[in-house]
Amino acid sequence: MLLKAELHCHIEGAAAPELVIAQARKYNASVEPFIRDGSFVWTDFTSFLAAYDFAADLFRSEEDYARLAEYYLTSLAKDGAIYSEVFTSPDHAVRAGLSPKAYTDALGEGMARAKAKTGIEGRMIVTGVRHVGVESIERAARFAATCRHPLVSGFGVAGDERVGAMEDYVRAFEIAREAGLGITVHAGEFGGPQSVRDALDHIRPSRIGHGVRAIEDPDLVKRIADEGIVLEVCPVSNIELKVYRDFSEHPFNALREAGCKVTLNSDDPPHFWTTLKREYEVAATHFGLSDKQLAAVTQTAINAAFVDRQTRAALL
Ligand code: ADE
Ligand code: ZN
Repeated sequence: MLLKAELHCHIEGAAAPELVIAQARKYNASVEPFIRDGSFVWTDFTSFLAAYDFAADLFRSEEDYARLAEYYLTSLAKDGAIYSEVFTSPDHAVRAGLSPKAYTDALGEGMARAKAKTGIEGRMIVTGVRHVGVESIERAARFAATCRHPLVSGFGVAGDERVGAMEDYVRAFEIAREAGLGITVHAGEFGGPQSVRDALDHIRPSRIGHGVRAIEDPDLVKRIADEGIVLEVCPVSNIELKVYRDFSEHPFNALREAGCKVTLNSDDPPHFWTTLKREYEVAATHFGLSDKQLAAVTQTAINAAFVDRQTRAALL
């Protein structure tokens, strides 16, 4: 089987409807109107975020989160993944009644169980959420910088790109960088090329979450290629969230052919009716990548992974 690696998946967004329905039963909650006929229901980015928050709020105990991570990484490994970085969100943990530390330890426990069963290596990227606010993003950065969890290796910002400006997050990213964490930031998904440019200028990440709308500015594409910035591309997410009408419009190949380092990722897989396996299949079917080219995408991801040299060497 083709080996795969993922750098961009939000752990709360990886909870399958069946799992969320089981959680709702456990906590005596209704899944209406967010899940119908076993499928998440949303119509645009704003209502997607509401469905995402609804699902997240049903994970409340340490064991709930451990099971979520174990379930997701085990399913990835079955599809041929050898490495997975998941975005974690202390804000969601606190909303659900857990401390960031208890939440992170629990996810780490689930990742360790998945590794024991399948060998998959996992890491966590602590994220702040733009639409929750700058203060909470800095709090998340301070937590990431001080938690000393062996599987926390990065810091990022996700959420609604229409809220706030990159300059607002400089301090948070400095805290994370000083602690030696890897840096990635969502940009160029709903924001245009200026959002990506702002991210590069102000945040100086080694990776950009999405970044696809950089394609609208050829100078920026050249800069991304020249600086070796890695793009965490999520093709199916982009289609489902209507960033592009269909795969023929998607800039994956244009970015790749311009020399940008691209990876394949599922973002929030069950919300977009996808899996990492499907993202690789889409790249083969719609973007025409050969098995050799797909293997190179996996290598790009491993080279860009937020891991120590020894772990990377073992994965390569
Ligand atoms: N959080 C979860 N999924 C996201 C996405 N696609 N963009 C921004 N923030 C997110
Ligand atoms: Zn994302």
